[in-house]
Amino acid sequence: MYRLLTVALLAISTVSATSLFNVSDNSPAMTDHFRRAGWLPASDEHLHKWMQAAVDEVTVGKRKNGTLLPVVQDFLDFIEMNAEMYMGFHQMFEEQPPSSLLSMVPDYQTMFKLFNKIIQEAPPYGPIGPPMYMIINGAMNTQAGFTTFLDTELNSHFRTMFNTWAKFLDSPDSRYVLNTGEGGWFNSSALSVLTEFYGGLTFEQIYVSDPSKPYWGYKSWDDYFVRLLRPGVRAVTLPGNQSLISAACESQLYNLATDVKAEDTFWVKGEPYSLLHMLNHDELAPQFIGGTVFQGFLSVTSYHRWHAPGFIGCSPPRRSGEPNNPFLRSLSFITALTTRMLIFIESDNPNIGMMVFIAIGMTEVSTCEATVKEGQHVQRGDELGMFHFGGSSHALVFRPETKLQFFDNVSQPGDQVEVRAAIAGVM
Ligand SMILES: *[C@@H]1O[C@H](CO)[C@@H](O)[C@H](O)[C@H]1NC(C)=O
Ligand SMILES: *[C@@H]1O[C@H](CO)[C@@H](O)[C@H](O)[C@H]1NC(C)=O
Ligand SMILES: *[C@@H]1O[C@H](CO)[C@@H](O)[C@H](O)[C@H]1NC(C)=O
Ligand SMILES: *[C@@H]1O[C@H](CO)[C@@H](O)[C@H](O)[C@H]1NC(C)=O
Ligand SMILES: *[C@@H]1O[C@H](CO)[C@@H](O)[C@H](O)[C@H]1NC(C)=O
Repeated sequence: MYRLLTVALLAISTVSATSLFNVSDNSPAMTDHFRRAGWLPASDEHLHKWMQAAVDEVTVGKRKNGTLLPVVQDFLDFIEMNAEMYMGFHQMFEEQPPSSLLSMVPDYQTMFKLFNKIIQEAPPYGPIGPPMYMIINGAMNTQAGFTTFLDTELNSHFRTMFNTWAKFLDSPDSRYVLNTGEGGWFNSSALSVLTEFYGGLTFEQIYVSDPSKPYWGYKSWDDYFVRLLRPGVRAVTLPGNQSLISAACESQLYNLATDVKAEDTFWVKGEPYSLLHMLNHDELAPQFIGGTVFQGFLSVTSYHRWHAPGFIGCSPPRRSGEPNNPFLRSLSFITALTTRMLIFIESDNPNIGMMVFIAIGMTEVSTCEATVKEGQHVQRGDELGMFHFGGSSHALVFRPETKLQFFDNVSQPGDQVEVRAAIAGVM
């Protein structure tokens, strides 16, 4: 439980982001990318301005007299009827250093009004990073928050609240941010970030979309977030070659670790993690001890679907439940604040064998959705699933028997990794 919580403590302040991405001064390019990609506020000034406006809106502005949505009211009732929670939420605010962002929020009641506001809105494009996160982060990073946020019931209230938000983001009402104005996802600054790594192609050349239609043809914010690439964009490298491993996500390389130990610490979202824990102590996990982990971060502006990293054969699909080879097994465990999904994949090429794709969500709606089923056969590059709003990181884990040679273009943290392009060859 402790580890599940800490995995969600993805930092938003520039200081903690530095330790998160290990990017400080030695990689200003990457920090800049994260900032422009929407995971980090552009500056403390932007963040403070946003927070002040949000607090004003719920304390003196148009939402002052608004009632809380039932889901938020239930959550608040839970806090107020539970002595430990009540104390914890008071203390979180007493423990705020004056310089903190959350010190701009007078009390937990106002924090709930902010939750209530955020879950009725779609995220704008802009300089502030994921909104819910801005608020929760400051509360969690206190002594009281650290203890209070471990509570299972509290986490289930968060989950219910995020589900309500997810429902909104999946509705036509959430499309108002899909416009060309300020804060719109089709304004010229947004489009230049969205198309940055596609060699001069325009948004509509890259993604299935129709700028002549309202909202460019998207049915909701979520529909936009999980948008499809057009055929031919990000083509699979040498699709017939069974010795290649392809990138599962459009991401930036964060870490490439070899000979990982069972309890070794590599980093997911800024926290040390053991391999066994990451693989949820699955019965297959021991096979990966001594293997290789390839981890990359996605951006808010990235393409958010996942694709099969390995060639998984041309034999007919086997029925689900048939043992072993080849198969996909997925399992997910969800708390309100972190989502991971593991997909075990067995390659037809015995030199590759078994590998795991791990999708790691983060503190927002953060849903991981698999579009493949256990036992299904896929080709390298086929879709495996997607992140809904909030998806942030992924890892590929290989066994020690899989002797990989990673290509030079995916060796440095910060390297742009194109989905479905070859990242390694097996020897
Ligand atoms: C990040 O930097 C710290 C301090 O230099 C180091 O101990 C840690 O291993 C680094 N993490 C990664 C993932 O490189
Ligand atoms: C809130 O309600 C009070 C009392 O009914 C009223 O005076 C005030 O104008 C309302 N404020 C807003 C922002 O609607
Ligand atoms: C696009 O939106 C962003 C974020 O609000 C804003 O900073 C920028 O000025 C806008 N650009 C245009 C061309 O409207
Ligand atoms: C890296 O280089 C290989 C070999 O030249 C190429 O096929 C592949 O597309 C590149 N991969 C990425 C992720 O850019
Ligand atoms: C397939 O990929 C492997 C690994 O990179 C390479 O050594 C081999 O030459 C490729 N085969 C063909 C036919 O391209």
